[in-house]
Amino acid sequence: MQAYRVLPGADIAGLERAELAPRALGAQQIRVRVDAVSLNYRDLSMLRGAYPTPPGQTLIPCSDAAGEVVECGAGVSRWRVGDRVAGTFFPHWHDGEPTPRKVAAAPGAAADGYLADEIVLHEDAAVATTLDPVAACTLPCAGVTAWNALFEEGRLQPGSTVLLLGTGGVSIWALQLAKAAGLRAIVTSSSDAKLQRARELGADATVNYLQHPEWQDEVARVGGDVDLVVEVGGQGTLARSIATVRMGGRVVVIGGVSGFGAAELRPRDLIGSSRRLSGIFVGSRTMHEKLERFVAQHAIAPVVDRVFGFEQAREAFTLMAAGGHFGKIVVALR
Ligand SMILES: NC(=O)c1ccc[n+]([C@@H]2O[C@H](COP(=O)([O-])OP(=O)(O)OC[C@H]3O[C@@H](n4cnc5c(N)ncnc54)[C@H](OP(=O)(O)O)[C@@H]3O)[C@@H](O)[C@H]2O)c1
Repeated sequence: MQAYRVLPGADIAGLERAELAPRALGAQQIRVRVDAVSLNYRDLSMLRGAYPTPPGQTLIPCSDAAGEVVECGAGVSRWRVGDRVAGTFFPHWHDGEPTPRKVAAAPGAAADGYLADEIVLHEDAAVATTLDPVAACTLPCAGVTAWNALFEEGRLQPGSTVLLLGTGGVSIWALQLAKAAGLRAIVTSSSDAKLQRARELGADATVNYLQHPEWQDEVARVGGDVDLVVEVGGQGTLARSIATVRMGGRVVVIGGVSGFGAAELRPRDLIGSSRRLSGIFVGSRTMHEKLERFVAQHAIAPVVDRVFGFEQAREAFTLMAAGGHFGKIVVALR
């Protein structure tokens, strides 16, 4: 099998293509021919050595792949050869609340990932898909995280207003889901051209966070009350996100594109205003399945900025590192 491997910390230049022996197929496992893989910011963080991984070990990067079942091990009951599937982000989190065991073994960090032409999954670690592979591979991390933020953790109803930071994979997924569900969406970006694309996707108000360093004031001016913030910014944005959200609203803490270090957090910013902060970690297989249904029902075509060939994996990561993308970046294998 063909795969990419990297020693965490070796960065994009350390990403090497390799011919590896195919993995043996155990009981209750399926072999999936990978047709497409999407990149997430955490994959770039892993390459840079800024994501928790087993020390001193090379890894196959990436957590999100879609393709076709080509072989079933003994005892497999959920799948047949020819079924189209996407892997789940967490192999062991099927349903219910997260636990340390359920969120262990995430591919592309705790274990080998899916930037390969075939992968072996436990039969419970896959979701059936009717989407084409380029679309289907954008769901497992970014799509499920956006779904969890808005509808599971956020429990938002039509008419609610969400604030989405930047125009990367999670935020544009959240924009597409928000508009399909009848929510109002405010989007921030460093780029007016990207904000124009966000408006074309239905964004109700937009703010350029470089032109407005105190963007929380501009969000209030153009967007009014915010019920929930999809907080992917981290240390540079968290305090402003809290300031933006209405009394009783929620900031869903997801990422740290501006850094994962200490953010200014004053208890009084939460107490008198009854604002809530909640961290989320992607989501369960059940959430992935609900998202797959919702996407099919609403005929959502996930926004994919660019599709690279398998031999162009380094270029795909370079685009992500430059922040040049809008929505998702995909590596397609056929
Ligand atoms: N908790 C979880 O389960 C979970 C799941 C998925 C992702 N994440 C995290 O969420 C974050 C986003 O992931 P992703 O894959 O969506 O990343 P991505 O596709 O690489 O998106 C990054 C975007 O963030 C925006 N950005 C950069 N600096 C910003 C700032 N200071 N303020 C506002 N926006 C800024 C930029 O948008 P513009 O170019 O428009 O300015 C950039 O394109 C990452 O930190 C990732 O690790 C966490």
